[in-house]
Amino acid sequence: ESEVPLFTASKVSQYSCQRKTTLNNCNKKFTDAFEIMAENYEFKENEVFCLEFLRAASVLKCLPFPVTRMKDIQGLPCMGDQVRDVIEEIIEDGESSRAKDVLNDERYKSFKQFTSVFGVGVKTSEKWFRMGLRTLEEVKADKTLKLSKMQRAGFLYYEDLVSFVSKAEADAVSLIVKNTVCTFLPDALVTITGGFRRGKKIGHDIDFLITNPGPREDDELLHKVVDLWKKQGLLLYCDIIESTFVKEQIPSREVDAMDHFQKCFAILKLYTPSIDNSSYNTSKKCDMAEVKDWKAIRVDLVITPFEQYAYALLGWTGSRQFGRDLRRYATHERKMMLDNHALYDKRKVIHMRKIPKQRNELHPCCVLMLRILWDE
Ligand code: CTP
Ligand code: MN
Ligand code: MN
Ligand code: MN
Repeated sequence: ESEVPLFTASKVSQYSCQRKTTLNNCNKKFTDAFEIMAENYEFKENEVFCLEFLRAASVLKCLPFPVTRMKDIQGLPCMGDQVRDVIEEIIEDGESSRAKDVLNDERYKSFKQFTSVFGVGVKTSEKWFRMGLRTLEEVKADKTLKLSKMQRAGFLYYEDLVSFVSKAEADAVSLIVKNTVCTFLPDALVTITGGFRRGKKIGHDIDFLITNPGPREDDELLHKVVDLWKKQGLLLYCDIIESTFVKEQIPSREVDAMDHFQKCFAILKLYTPSIDNSSYNTSKKCDMAEVKDWKAIRVDLVITPFEQYAYALLGWTGSRQFGRDLRRYATHERKMMLDNHALYDKRKVIHMRKIPKQRNELHPCCVLMLRILWDE
């Protein structure tokens, strides 16, 4: 008889950064339901309930076996009443009536459509829903709406952007980014982050961190890169956010604080290996409809000073839940503070009774000793 692997529920940490998780999820029917519940709470801006379901999903993803009885989740962290109710129902009926109700809910369905557009978040969706709009067709037909430049790009390239980015496309874009960056800074380090760095085969976008190990820092690099792409006709959209980093500033206590790096949210035109149309080239007059030989791809570029690169890499690798739990772990278990720029020792701050002048004085680097195993 095969040996049952030892598994002790009470030893499962409440922090995803302390758990070993593979991409192989054997509790997908539960975690899918949790993620629907979490998304619905996100649309309702109920962060507490949203996080409750996201944490529960993250815990079930680390289990090496599928849950089949309520006894299987005994002793596991993050299994609140709401979560247990959903699990119980799925065990009994094979599906969750609460998750099903959400999927049929008019508000949820509209928000799901609206937020699928690049540049449209919960706030805009709320506004449109209150105006009586329910579908993207209705939004597009409403000529009184003032769309942002980002949202206009979102609608313009909608079909491309909702289709997943493949690993092959990520590799192709990676080459373009590396080549362009290196024409300006030959020693620059360009690293793919986000879901692709976690080994995912598909993504919604491609994330890159760019840093220069040398003494030279170039605030103009990002501008030079996008200007070149503009000239080459590769840039479909771009929004550069300048750095707002202040050295004296201590990390934010928010669960999902934005970082202060200079960055760019872009849409690139990726030419796809062309369909063979050589037979048409010879014909004298070809009135065949133009074949679209490119795909719009969302790309995030983040520029970091070299001394903050490790923290930026940790934060931008994700997953979001992993990052949230790393920060929670730092705060509650280590009395430190973590963000995408640095790791601080809070006790040292208290002893000194003042915020140090240099963020880096506090804690040079010890984040990377943590086991990095992702949860999605
Ligand atoms: N992130 C961050 N600071 C930001 C934006 C994102 O630290 N200002 C982190 C997110 O928490 C996430 C990672 O960077 O962990 C990548 O973000 P994103 O592209 O949104 O998610 P992915 O995990 O790459 O998944 P997807 O395939 O949907 O893009
Ligand atoms: Mn991403
Ligand atoms: Mn995303
Ligand atoms: Mn991204």
